Amino acid sequence: MLGQEYIIGKIIGTGSSGDVYLGKNNITKEIVSIKVISKYKSSINEDEVQILARLPISPHSIRLIDTYDEPKKFYIITNYVKGSELSNWQNKQVTLPWLYALTGQMLETLQLIHSMGIVHRDIKLENILVDDDDNSDEMVNFTLIDFGSAAEDKGDGIINSNYAGTYGYYSPQLVQAGVDRSTQHVRSFNPSFDAYVKGDIFALGVVLFLLMEKREPFELNPQGTEPYHQFDKPVPMTPHSLIGRHTQLQRLVEMMLTGMYTSDEMMTQFTTILNTELV
Ligand SMILES: Nc1ncnc2c1ncn2[C@@H]1O[C@H](COP(=O)(O)OP(=O)(O)O)[C@@H](O)[C@H]1O
Ligand SMILES: [Mg+2]
Repeated sequence: MLGQEYIIGKIIGTGSSGDVYLGKNNITKEIVSIKVISKYKSSINEDEVQILARLPISPHSIRLIDTYDEPKKFYIITNYVKGSELSNWQNKQVTLPWLYALTGQMLETLQLIHSMGIVHRDIKLENILVDDDDNSDEMVNFTLIDFGSAAEDKGDGIINSNYAGTYGYYSPQLVQAGVDRSTQHVRSFNPSFDAYVKGDIFALGVVLFLLMEKREPFELNPQGTEPYHQFDKPVPMTPHSLIGRHTQLQRLVEMMLTGMYTSDEMMTQFTTILNTELV
């Protein structure tokens, strides 16, 4: 029983699959995060635990500590990440070094998981935490969380699992393959691992665009409640908008938003930019 080993504390987050609580191990006193999934409300993504268990130790992603399977609830215990969701930064001024740190750390993390045959499939502001320490912007730490939509390539280059993700963050290629544009309903389909790899990069592009430009990179659906991309007329990025000299980074974000590049390719580009612009 979870209650024998952990004290459950205050709620620290909510998502589509349930609430997340702060917890403390009774013996080791370790502070943890406890994601509680109600078996009545949502189904458990078996892959979430499998994938969390396979994740290599990284300063920029969470670590699985334990799971508890009880009759009504399923619990996923991970290390507690101090900080808050990037969605809190949507209306705040961000600096260029902060944006470079975010880009570099998330590309590094995606490159790592992609190299292991894992795709995250729900990269968004809510699923990246930033530490609240008074670190300088170059030292700021970002953490990728929520592997609830993640999937694995079992060796055939195909992802055999239902479509996952969040409207507004789907790459054009994934939308065209899997979303019925007249009803906005997501069909079940099995895109390639490669399409999801590029989809993760696209979604990172959306995250960066939202933080840099303070608006959606693509127009929203005027009728519906959900944003969607009008791929025929993407809104171009305004150059020199927020903070002076970040044209190189804008170019990088534009590349991400084509939905055509892998994490390896983007990391190569990123390294080139670092060498030419910052040094
Ligand atoms: N390890 C963690 N440390 C700190 N906060 C977390 C942690 N895991 C989740 N949270 C918080 O809880 C929210 C929901 O968790 P998440 O895993 O994204 O669930 P869902 O799959 O329901 O979206 C996150 O957006 C974050 O604010
Ligand atoms: Mg989430």
